[in-house]
Amino acid sequence: MLLTNATLASMDSQRADTAYGLIAQGAVALDGADIAWVGPKDQVPEAWRNGPVKDLEGRLVTPALIDCHTHLVHGGNRAREFELRLQGASYEEIARAGGGIVSTVAATRLADEDALLAAALTRLDALIAEGAGLVEVKSGYGLDLESELKMLRVARALERARPVRLRTSFLGAHAVPPEYRGRPDAYLDDVCLPALEAAHDQGLVDAVDGFCEGIAFTPQQIARVFDKARELGLPVKLHAEQLSNLGGAVLAAGYGALSADHLEYADEVAAEAMAKAGSVAVVLPGAFYTLRETQLPPIQTFRERGVAMALASDCNPGSSPLTSLLLTMNMACTLFRMTPEEALAGVTRNAARALGVTDCGMIRSGLRADLAIWDVEHPAELAYRIAFNPLHQRLFGGAS
Ligand code: NIG
Ligand code: FE
Repeated sequence: MLLTNATLASMDSQRADTAYGLIAQGAVALDGADIAWVGPKDQVPEAWRNGPVKDLEGRLVTPALIDCHTHLVHGGNRAREFELRLQGASYEEIARAGGGIVSTVAATRLADEDALLAAALTRLDALIAEGAGLVEVKSGYGLDLESELKMLRVARALERARPVRLRTSFLGAHAVPPEYRGRPDAYLDDVCLPALEAAHDQGLVDAVDGFCEGIAFTPQQIARVFDKARELGLPVKLHAEQLSNLGGAVLAAGYGALSADHLEYADEVAAEAMAKAGSVAVVLPGAFYTLRETQLPPIQTFRERGVAMALASDCNPGSSPLTSLLLTMNMACTLFRMTPEEALAGVTRNAARALGVTDCGMIRSGLRADLAIWDVEHPAELAYRIAFNPLHQRLFGGAS
């Protein structure tokens, strides 16, 4: 199958000499689930010219989008907390008063797998409708052995229910549950570390995440979780420097983390360590916006140090009830002054890297044919528009 007469924003790092790795008047040849050839439409090899051809009439093709940081599986919602914040309460005050993450823990523990799956599917469908082909999902609202396993089973079930790939991150170190209040190390010993081992044994974990923050876990406590991840041979990532600078990004980089995420309070030292380790900076403008944060992540420092930047929805019921990667891109440009090209790289090539996935995120021969076809002329339009979905068609493994 040949897709022809398209503008290709290949996002291919080997075509970095043109913005977006752009190929005007391009064509893509598909061989089953994979991309077989990419280039100008007047240079299509003989073999592909006589097969089935689809004329894209000048439409834009990008890699399918990737959401590399979500909490898609959760019970309930936190609209009440939204109201409280509008009355002046802060995110941290609500968390310390037993609301916040812990209130979603209560709702998630109560929900059965079918209910969690049904609710998560509505959010997943919103992402797919905007061209997503790969989505990461975290645990972390169970915080007891059975509930953490339940969340991860639901995450795996999402992949069987829809044509999309899922990656799971174990986030047992997300918050200290009420029954362990004031005893974070006991929680790690009794629950978090055994749950990680059990989840890994059951094939439910692709990576290990944590929340390093005053309202969550210290760097020393996160290091204990990362040591266990290392023992199990699992890659790590970390919610770091969201509300304060505790040195989480440096810690994560020391473990060769795939990514450090949030990063509003990250500094030069963090950027340097991340650059050295090859860790991706995942910025989450939905959380920045929702919490009306004023501290900007050090985007310019990341650029200067050569730290790859990804974007994600951070879809969660508290700090980012967001299920749109297109809006995430727009927010990254308007709030963080990222370029539309950086925003698109952030939900394609660099998002794949933040998940340690190497077979998608660019339009390049040999990679999966996960593509998004858009009714726009130029890739900058994807980040420029607000609350408008110009997706024409998504191809997942070559199929629509
Ligand atoms: O990524 N920062 C910690 N975890 C989530 C928020 C979770 C919640 O408030 O429920 C985040 O923003
Ligand atoms: Fe998060």
